[in-house]
Amino acid sequence: MCGIVAYIGSKDAAPILLEGLARLEYRGYDSAGVAVAAKGGLKMVKKKGRVADLAAVVPARFKGTAGIGHTRWATHGEPSDANSHPHLDGAQRFAVVHNGIIENADQLRAKLEADGVVFASETDTEVLVHLIAAEAKTETELEDAVRAALSRIVGTYGIAVLDAEQPDRIVVARNGSPIVLGIGEKEMFAASDVAALVRYTRQVVHLDDGELATVRADGFQTFTQDARATAKKPSTVDWEEASYDTAGHAHFLIKEIHEQPAAVERTLSGRVDERFATAHLGGLNLDAREARAFRRVKILGCGSAYYSGELGAQLIEELARIPAHAEPASEFRYRNPVIEADTLYIAVSQSGETYDTLAAVQEIKRKGGRVLGVVNTVGSAIARECDGGVYLHAGPEISVASTKAFTSTAVAFALIALHFGRVHDLSPADGHRICAGLKALPGQIREILAQEKEIAELAAAYAHNAGMMFVGRVRGWPVAREGAQKLKEVSYVHAEAYPASELKHGPLALIGPELPTVALVPDDELVEKNLTTMGEIRARHGRVLMVGHTAPDPKFAEDTILIPKNEPELDPILLGIPLQLLAYYAAVALERDVDKPRNLAKSVTVE
Ligand code: G6P
Repeated sequence: MCGIVAYIGSKDAAPILLEGLARLEYRGYDSAGVAVAAKGGLKMVKKKGRVADLAAVVPARFKGTAGIGHTRWATHGEPSDANSHPHLDGAQRFAVVHNGIIENADQLRAKLEADGVVFASETDTEVLVHLIAAEAKTETELEDAVRAALSRIVGTYGIAVLDAEQPDRIVVARNGSPIVLGIGEKEMFAASDVAALVRYTRQVVHLDDGELATVRADGFQTFTQDARATAKKPSTVDWEEASYDTAGHAHFLIKEIHEQPAAVERTLSGRVDERFATAHLGGLNLDAREARAFRRVKILGCGSAYYSGELGAQLIEELARIPAHAEPASEFRYRNPVIEADTLYIAVSQSGETYDTLAAVQEIKRKGGRVLGVVNTVGSAIARECDGGVYLHAGPEISVASTKAFTSTAVAFALIALHFGRVHDLSPADGHRICAGLKALPGQIREILAQEKEIAELAAAYAHNAGMMFVGRVRGWPVAREGAQKLKEVSYVHAEAYPASELKHGPLALIGPELPTVALVPDDELVEKNLTTMGEIRARHGRVLMVGHTAPDPKFAEDTILIPKNEPELDPILLGIPLQLLAYYAAVALERDVDKPRNLAKSVTVE
């Protein structure tokens, strides 16, 4: 949520900053701005709208070799030119960009205003730049002024600070919002996300919470809030620059949908242990005895990560027969949860940054619980906070709506469930059955993607309804929830998910010709029950699109998408794929901003 980029070296900063911001735009896209330290002071341009709108108004003579940039997702104050970052102090000596939330901004603002400071925006961030300016009256070094200012604020931040009087450095700091440094040849970068850096360097350093860094063209120093130097070892980013391009696709969303066979192959790579019919997951850091000791599993995540956790809970209960349950991390953390020693907690997050999920992990750990992470972004805050876990290796996901990370998460849960199953009572024969099913997934996903054209036509036909119902039972229920979520977020068509069994207890009242239903009907022991529900919908003249394995009698469904059959436990992973295509093509038919839906951001790093 919100993107930060900073550059210092011998090149012109502005083009590098604008390029970096374009790469970060998926993190927030309601306004953007850049500032550079130039001879004679700071130059700044900022604007409501997209990075392209900003680039169009940056003047040709916007010269400076040190600069900072920001793309915003509004929290305090509506999107506007004035509320865009960077923010400057009254004397225009300092420029600050900030991700996160300053909780005591109102009190600090009142105090600063009483001292005569005039504010130019409604943001919490502006408080910080005025505090830095105030501290600079007594502190000569920029880093000391920043440390002193940060000691007065309560909240979360990733920041970058530019000082017109010390243009040889940029100071960055992190507390709850990521900052990563990029090491170049006589030039340095900083950003909230490696996406902004991969074009220029692969050598990166992740700051920890509470850490600051001084970044100069020839290197960097890191230190703590109380000025103690810290030692950092650079790591190499292995994600390709090409992952950050649409590579000929119309949108990242469709590109990432098509990347799923390869993403699932990577999630499975080296982890299917045919010899013992189990999964090999070294990162769990649990030996067999510990794995057997847990009596319950609690899975936490937000948005699509939560729904993939529901699929995970289903898999763990089925294969390992351990009671498992998923809950939104955003609710869990606020309800003073009971943390049990014999419950295994699993946090799910594509970005590894979602603040509510991170806070849930911290709360569990504070109370002595054991937490594993199912995370895509290596080295992210949640990954580092957990006691162990499984990386997805799905590759970077840029489109706001999650697809390949969702599917890879479900696959990672299937591996976890297989592993736990095999240390409990899952038979070797069943273990082999699941191993074979897992290995078949990439090919079967390809088969579903080959139906893209037909699904696109169906999506265009259904897109113009005011709403859509998604129903499923047991294995199909989390898939229905994610399908409805996908349609809502990218097409803005109202969609509701219900367990098919619950339809007659209320929502059947809504069913009629104007509200079509997507029914998820795998060939399992519940197929007859699902057909009965579809019959009830048809009897009320509701249109039905069935996704399943066997074409039903036409009286049950107008339209059908058939998918390949896997093992019953793994079928839900495949059932979700056509729903992604359905949402994508509905959004395209309605001419939505597919990769950047209104009001949303890719990673929500605030509460
Ligand atoms: C945001 C995104 C969702 C995502 C959720 C969790 O709300 O818009 O697409 O599912 O955050 O993100 P995470 O990175 O923790 O998986």
